[in-house]
Amino acid sequence: MIQQLWTAVDHYLNDTFVHSDAALTAALEAADAAGLPAINVAPNQGKLLHLLARVQGARSVLEIGTLAGYSTIWLARALPPGGRVITLESERHHAELARANLARAGVSRLVDVRIGAALDTLPRLAAEQLEPFDFYFIDADKQNIPAYFEWALKLGRRGSLIVVDNVIREGAVLDADSDDPSVRGVRRFNEMLAAEKRVSATAIQTVGAKGHDGFALVLVL
Ligand code: SAH
Ligand code: DHB
Ligand code: MG
Repeated sequence: MIQQLWTAVDHYLNDTFVHSDAALTAALEAADAAGLPAINVAPNQGKLLHLLARVQGARSVLEIGTLAGYSTIWLARALPPGGRVITLESERHHAELARANLARAGVSRLVDVRIGAALDTLPRLAAEQLEPFDFYFIDADKQNIPAYFEWALKLGRRGSLIVVDNVIREGAVLDADSDDPSVRGVRRFNEMLAAEKRVSATAIQTVGAKGHDGFALVLVL
């Protein structure tokens, strides 16, 4: 019952002013047709990522966890000319579908989809010695959130913003004794935030079409 209400409110907000366009809708339809799980961000969450990246004036974005490129499209559309998103995806068929979706959205030029487990592709990325990333969206396997956070600090700068998805999971995060690797990953990440002097962070729980979950927002000081 309550989930139906959350979903209805999300639909109302999205229909009223979030304005998905044909390319965003087609990306979700293509993902569904290919049998990918519907674990993309919701439209209003994608718009939040887009707005955060714009507020921050982000020119370079690193996303970990591409799926079909839905969040990637929202992020790419936040960039100024010459901006770039690098997005890391372990599943080849996800990455290939993402490339098709990004092309349909007209943002291929701005996005580099890299295939491989992120813990393998991140060291290669670091070796390229690119400019620091302005914005991160961490949304891949949850057990490795602590490692991805460390990479984000390493590849970032003062003022970089790190958004981490799925840090609440219907309150599963409360279970200190959980043996679920995802829960343990999120809790370990929270402990890192508590101890890390180089960042200022918060976390927000959300309800909506995607259930009860939440995201962390981390500013590198
Ligand atoms: N950001 C996307 C959703 C990502 S879902 C959106 O909102 O539209 C999580 C993705 O992370 C899946 O496609 C999964 O294959 C990928 N993934 C899981 N483990 C990974 C790893 N170790 N390295 C890179 N990608 C991984
Ligand atoms: C899952 C992953 C996500 O990134 C998400 O937003 C929701 C669910 C999952 O792996 O189940
Ligand atoms: Mg997610």
